[in-house]
Amino acid sequence: MGMTAYNGVSIPAFMYGTAWKKEATTDLVLEAVKAGFKAIDTANQLIHYDEGRVGEALVLLAQQGVGREHLFLQTKFTPLNGQDHRTPYDRTASVGMQVRQSFESSLAHLHTDHLDSYVLHGPYYRGGLGPEDWEVWAAIESLYAEGRTKMIGVSNVSAAQLALLCERAAHRPMIVQNRCYAAFGWDRAVRELCRTHGIVYQGFSLLTANREVFLDPTIRAIAETYNTGVAQVIFRFAMQIGMVPLTGTSNSRHMVEDLQVDRFTLTPVELEHIETIGV
Ligand SMILES: NC(=O)c1ccc[n+]([C@@H]2O[C@H](COP(=O)([O-])OP(=O)(O)OC[C@H]3O[C@@H](n4cnc5c(N)ncnc54)[C@H](OP(=O)(O)O)[C@@H]3O)[C@@H](O)[C@H]2O)c1
Repeated sequence: MGMTAYNGVSIPAFMYGTAWKKEATTDLVLEAVKAGFKAIDTANQLIHYDEGRVGEALVLLAQQGVGREHLFLQTKFTPLNGQDHRTPYDRTASVGMQVRQSFESSLAHLHTDHLDSYVLHGPYYRGGLGPEDWEVWAAIESLYAEGRTKMIGVSNVSAAQLALLCERAAHRPMIVQNRCYAAFGWDRAVRELCRTHGIVYQGFSLLTANREVFLDPTIRAIAETYNTGVAQVIFRFAMQIGMVPLTGTSNSRHMVEDLQVDRFTLTPVELEHIETIGV
């Protein structure tokens, strides 16, 4: 099971996220893949991620028989406003050139010659899209056109920004990766646009952004019904409403439990309750 974008490329149903793992990144990626995760998310942004250590794990996995072809690799271009002094590109270069340099550096970190998905970490502007956003998107589109990444996407995007990209870009995104708050109907407006345009929606911080959901008596009862935890109910809910969830766990038991969520199916009434839980 997985999701397929409008360009016919598929992504596994669940992703392992590598933010904030620091020096544990290599071991955790090894553990996650051994637990069964087939899709890895990272970024060329040392403040939050260690792409080089993800690459070290990939080398070890290849030596153990899990080659590049068995994994879906996604990384991001992070603009200057999301970087510290350790930028993986020339700060004075044009933003289009920064994308190129960051991409090449990602391939070197990850010991690969192509990506499955390359994502703009976030637009430069909060309202609408500015000239830098269009220049960055054009550079990302050209990487796609050259076949160097199978999908392209955007993260931390509003519905209005996504609508603009879908309307004006030569290649609209195939991936959206957003923080998903129950209080906003689990990012309903952006998810609906994604559904309309054949874009795969990835939801992150499903647990950490929704701590109040863990206290809801109905979701606790649902978890008991299926003999599982609230975290797993949230991930299962995400999949059933058409999202690819990311998990950021560092716990090997949680990795295994999270991957078992396809063992139960929530009813339409349960889905409806969770979808409107914080609204
Ligand atoms: N594009 C962006 O701007 C952006 C921003 C943030 C994150 N992300 C991506 O999304 C990924 C996930 O983000 P996140 O870490 O905030 O996600 P998360 O999965 O909502 O939160 C992980 C936290 O929940 C805890 N947790 C408790 N029970 C769990 C269970 N059964 N399964 C999983 N976690 C459980 C984890 O603790 P334990 O370790 O003890 O399990 C950990 O502290 C990141 O690694 C990154 O790849 C992207």
